[in-house]
Amino acid sequence: MIKLTPRLKTIAEEIENGETMADIGTDHGFLPVYLWEAGISPNVIMADVSPGSLAKAEQNCHSLHPETSFDLRLGNGLEVLRPGEVDAVAIAGMGGILMTEILGADLEKSWSFKKFILQPRNRIGQLRCWLYNNQFSVVNEKLVREGKFICEVLTVVPKEIAVTGDLGPDDIEYEFPHKLVDFRNDLTEEYLQRKLNLEKLILQSMSEGRQEEPAKLRRQNYRVEYLEYLLRRLRNEN
Ligand SMILES: C[S@@+](CC[C@H](N)C(=O)[O-])C[C@H]1O[C@@H](n2cnc3c(N)ncnc32)[C@H](O)[C@@H]1O
Repeated sequence: MIKLTPRLKTIAEEIENGETMADIGTDHGFLPVYLWEAGISPNVIMADVSPGSLAKAEQNCHSLHPETSFDLRLGNGLEVLRPGEVDAVAIAGMGGILMTEILGADLEKSWSFKKFILQPRNRIGQLRCWLYNNQFSVVNEKLVREGKFICEVLTVVPKEIAVTGDLGPDDIEYEFPHKLVDFRNDLTEEYLQRKLNLEKLILQSMSEGRQEEPAKLRRQNYRVEYLEYLLRRLRNEN
């Protein structure tokens, strides 16, 4: 089995057993090959914008597992993926600004994945600021030494604020966690749709009231968007 560097191993540890994944900017392809070899990810996609890099991944796949045909895709950022096609997307070893461009190129698509593992080479402040302003939440952060560098590994989920002490029982993430989509049955869609209709009515009446505080309006708007997002995920995954 491939022995990963500590940096790649730290990224790999963020992928849970059974999660499918894509590695954007895969280059050598070691991370996805390791996840597949270890039986952690049943499906891995290796993607790169550079034909030379992708050829490197292809060569490594061939010499390590000549009998297996891996899914290698040439293209820019997330363009190579369909919405929600994999659970987790790793983007590692490139600049923080480039990561914001990759994620921002099609926000709806970016929000369709369960999580991203990001390991920026620089500009982490710009990346974090962009994430917070584009409805991503950082749910885990790790530091790992690679040679003379200390690298940051962020695990990021869309449109869900991590369940921390800052959230109270009235926050929508407690009422409707993402797990509802994972554990769906034939009532889930109706259940979420009913709640969304109610939250929209509340938003409408708040918007009509002249005295409403902007912070309360924003919060209500967020509740509507959050439920719309859950329903979109549910329908995409059906
Ligand atoms: C330094 S390598 C990192 C390789 C590997 N992810 C790692 O962390 O060890 C960066 C890779 O990202 C690729 N890349 C750069 N911009 C990209 C983009 N917009 N979409 C996909 N891949 C990209 C490059 O071609 C290169 O192979």
